[in-house]
Amino acid sequence: MQLASVTKSTTRFYTDVIRGLQSSHKHLDSKYFYDERGDELFQQIMNCDDYYLTNCEMEILRTQSDDIALTIGKLEKNFDVVELGAGDCTKSIHLLKSIFKTDKSFTFFPVDISKHVINIIEQDIPKKIDDLNVYGLNGEYIEMLQRSNEISSRRKLVLFMGSNIGNMNYTASIAFLKEVRNYLNKGDCLLIGFDLKKDPQIILNAYNDKQGITREFNLNLLRRINKELNADFVIENFKHFPVYNPESGECKSYLISTKKQRVFIGDTEFIDFDANETIDMEISAKYSIAQINELANLSGFKPVEYFYDSKQWFADVLWKCI
Ligand code: AVJ
Repeated sequence: MQLASVTKSTTRFYTDVIRGLQSSHKHLDSKYFYDERGDELFQQIMNCDDYYLTNCEMEILRTQSDDIALTIGKLEKNFDVVELGAGDCTKSIHLLKSIFKTDKSFTFFPVDISKHVINIIEQDIPKKIDDLNVYGLNGEYIEMLQRSNEISSRRKLVLFMGSNIGNMNYTASIAFLKEVRNYLNKGDCLLIGFDLKKDPQIILNAYNDKQGITREFNLNLLRRINKELNADFVIENFKHFPVYNPESGECKSYLISTKKQRVFIGDTEFIDFDANETIDMEISAKYSIAQINELANLSGFKPVEYFYDSKQWFADVLWKCI
């Protein structure tokens, strides 16, 4: 059982990597950043000064969780909470506590692509909220949302925080939100985090931190491919290069091949790189309020309330399904 699931996810990883790197627009999927070392590096990113997102959203959850829970409570009763991309739950724990004060019967379904993260959550949360039912789901967002519906038929509050939505381009985010909507019912709620457009230099610095952690985070995916797919990337031959477009709101990270080179993935497949050729690694989209409302309208939700940090750099927005 265990072995079969490991094999299946490794196969998907392999296919995605090969397809991405053999494409004329070389790209890797940022969801693969999060192996054990990637989780560790992302923790360091969240703790570093340049990466403001976590502090902003933490401020919202720390200071407004009771408000948020109250607003949700007016919209729906007897719901379970599904968190897509739960991470270490240090932000959502505040909201879970606030909800638990009013209703102790809900189950918390943390969903994460990292098995390691799910194990930690399942151990830690019951220590922080006595008697809270926790049911960890390790896998892809939509598949696991579907699974939570099979396990429980209660109403749902879905949390999708941290501006994880930003890892999809605009078209993909609409398609994704429509899918989420599909697995929910009229009246269910979604609390979704958006990083807002702001001084472009502040945004760029968040993805180009002085300590070089984000650089390591990107290069770690090449290391992961070396380890898990038996590839021979020479890490020194790739350079981390983030850019931010203040018009589109797209912050993108590239790895640049510093020379002409051939990289083997396993024994049979190889990828040729020209000097200065790019690998598109990640998009982290930034939003205006108008765009957020448009996203809601296009995907079957209605914005109910906005919760901002004091600098108004970040917003957690409560949507309800219509
Ligand atoms: C977890 C997707 C919100 O895009 O800001 C942090 C991941 N990448 N630094 C983001 C990330 C580089 C992060 N998200």
